[in-house]
Amino acid sequence: MAERVTDTRVVLSGVELDNPVIAASGTFVYGEEFKDFYDINILGAFSFKGTTREPRFGNPTPRIAECESGMINAVGLQNPGVDAVIEHEIPNMRKFYHKPIVANVSGFSLDDYAYTCERLDPYADILEVNVSCPNVRHGGMSFGTQPESAAEVTRAVKAVTTKPVYIKLSPNVTDIVSIAKACEEAGADGLCLINTLLGMRIDVARRRPVIANKMGGFSGRAIFPVAVRMVWQVAQACRIPIMGCGGVATATDVIEMMMAGATAVQVGAENLRNPYACKEIIEALPAEMERLGIDRLSDTIGIVK
Ligand SMILES: Cc1cc2nc3c(=O)[nH]c(=O)nc-3n(C[C@H](O)[C@H](O)[C@H](O)COP(=O)(O)O)c2cc1C
Repeated sequence: MAERVTDTRVVLSGVELDNPVIAASGTFVYGEEFKDFYDINILGAFSFKGTTREPRFGNPTPRIAECESGMINAVGLQNPGVDAVIEHEIPNMRKFYHKPIVANVSGFSLDDYAYTCERLDPYADILEVNVSCPNVRHGGMSFGTQPESAAEVTRAVKAVTTKPVYIKLSPNVTDIVSIAKACEEAGADGLCLINTLLGMRIDVARRRPVIANKMGGFSGRAIFPVAVRMVWQVAQACRIPIMGCGGVATATDVIEMMMAGATAVQVGAENLRNPYACKEIIEALPAEMERLGIDRLSDTIGIVK
C-alpha cells in the first residue's frame, strides 16, 4: 500500500512556512541557546525577543515564578534596543538560521512602534506588534486594552512598512473580539493571540510576592484552553489570519489550535521547560495527522465553527 503523504505547509500572508510551528517571542531569544540543541531551521519560523527603540535592562529580579502547569514571568522586555538588534543580533542569527523571521516589536508611544518597525522592516518577513505595553500618553494603560489605541498602533505601523503586520493581542481584556476587529479594520494583515495572562504568586513563608515586580505574565500549558477559546472567538469574527499562541506543548495542541482558527501556532513557555519542545512537536506532526486522517494540515484551519 502506498504510504500516505502528509503536508504540513501553511502560508501566512504570502510567507510560506514548512510547518505551522513558530517559536514564540521571548522564549527563544535570538535562537542562539537553542541551535546547540538542534538545527532550528526545522522551525516554521521564529519570533525573536521583543525589540524596543532603546535598550532595556528589564525588571528587577526575581522575575520568574514557577506554577502548576505554567510559569509567571516579569522580564520587562529586556533587549539591547533596535540598533544593536540590527547590528549584532540579526547578522549573528542569520549565520545559523535561514527560515522566516518574525520580528516582535514593543513600544511606549505610537512613534516608538513606527520607528522600530520601520527599522526592522528590511530584516523581517513578518512584523509582530506587541500591544501589551503600557501607553505612556494614556496613563500607562496597555495599548491592547482599547480598540481605539490598538487601531492607532496598527495604522502607525502600517504607514511605515511593506511587510505583513500582525498585531499581538493581550488576553487581559473583557472583549478581545472588538479589539481584534478594530485592528483588522485599521489594516492589520493578521493577528497573534494570546500574550500572557496577568498573574501573581506569594511566598507564604516570606509573606511577600515571589516576583519583585509583584505581578507578571502567566503562560504555559495551563492557559491552553483560554488561548483556544480566544483564537476561536476571534476567528469567528475576523477574516485575517491568526497565529495561535498559549500553552501549546504537543502536536495535538497544534492541530486543536488550527481547528479553532489558527493558520500557524506559536510555542512559548514549553521551550523553557523542554528545549527540544518545538523539535518534538514538528517531528510528531505527520504521525498525529495520519492518526486523525489529515492529509493537508492547512485544511484543518478554522474547521470548528
Ligand atoms: C520569559 C518570557 C518572555 C516573553 N517575552 C515576550 C516578548 O518580548 N514579546 C511578546 O510579545 N511576548 C513575550 N512573551 C509571551 C509569549 O511570546 C507568549 O505569547 C505567551 O507566553 C503565551 O504562550 P505560552 O503559553 O506558549 O508561553 C514572553 C513569554 C515568556 C514566558
